[in-house]
Amino acid sequence: MRKGLQNVESSENNTYKIIAVDDEIGIVDSLSIFLKRTGYQFVGVTDPIEAIEKVKNEHFDLMILDFIMTPFHGDQVVEEIRKFNKDLYILLLTGHKDLAPPLETIKKLDIQGYCEKSDKFDQLLLLIESGIKSIKQMNEIKNINNQLSDTYEKLEQAYLESIETLRYTVEAKDIYTRGHSDRVAEYSVLIGKKLGLSEEDLKTLHLGGLFHDIGKIGVPDSILQKSSTLTDDEYSQIKQHPNIGVHILSNASIFQDILPIVEHHHEKFDGSGYPSRLKGNDIPYLARITSVADSFDAMTSRRSYRDSLPMETVISELKRCSGTQFDPNIVNLFLDILENDFSSIQEIMNKHK
Ligand SMILES: [Fe+2]
Ligand SMILES: [Fe+2]
Repeated sequence: MRKGLQNVESSENNTYKIIAVDDEIGIVDSLSIFLKRTGYQFVGVTDPIEAIEKVKNEHFDLMILDFIMTPFHGDQVVEEIRKFNKDLYILLLTGHKDLAPPLETIKKLDIQGYCEKSDKFDQLLLLIESGIKSIKQMNEIKNINNQLSDTYEKLEQAYLESIETLRYTVEAKDIYTRGHSDRVAEYSVLIGKKLGLSEEDLKTLHLGGLFHDIGKIGVPDSILQKSSTLTDDEYSQIKQHPNIGVHILSNASIFQDILPIVEHHHEKFDGSGYPSRLKGNDIPYLARITSVADSFDAMTSRRSYRDSLPMETVISELKRCSGTQFDPNIVNLFLDILENDFSSIQEIMNKHK
């Protein structure tokens, strides 16, 4: 019975690979005999430099390391290894107490355990066994983590794809708005970059631009494509699109950050916009950026009821609406881009014709 149990244990041990480094060949040999008997895969090395190379090129789970060695000590070996491998479980074999490294060094180098060298390996074996248990747990956690992030990425990708399809459906309904969301996304990022926003904010601006009008899917085609003046009732239906958009996107955690853009891209700086009549700095900052990009694109694109406007008219409109429709700081910055970096704007226009 006991023998059977031992077999199970040693066949499990067989999956773990141990490397021992000691400049005394006698110690390496005894460890080799002892650990192979216990079932572990074992590699013994007497040269510290060779040990570092081996760890670089092969996978090991655990290292048993002598402290006093030539040409350099065990702590230096660990220092080298930790530069490229944080996972290796390291046990340090120390000489007599007065030759052991200070506890501070052991903690600093992320050494998991140490024991005094002796002819009997009982204490070392206990340390190895508990080390292997920790490694096993660490591996399990790693596996679960990897599986979770794989699943999350797949879900996120699938969701993005299905929403992307929705987005194209919106733009396919109306040839005049084709490319609109792509351009709004890129103009917004251009403004965000000039404002020195973080990578995360730029990502939100991009995604927000792509999906800001997604709610138009819920507005009848007959209204969206109408070339004559809209009735009050029709206009109030169009004004529903920010709320419909939020409704569509709000269930997915990946879209949480863009909801303020989707909801508030039609607010006006003086508080006369929709849906919430927010005023000034109460309008989310990224939504104020998207609003400038959105209006600029609306004016520079052809619509069912008019041709695109000449650039001078667009510029004077942007100036006229500074402080009423638009945040003056953002619109000033955008006017500055139009004046001094027009090629960036043109590039976006040409890319998404
Ligand atoms: Fe909109
Ligand atoms: Fe829009």
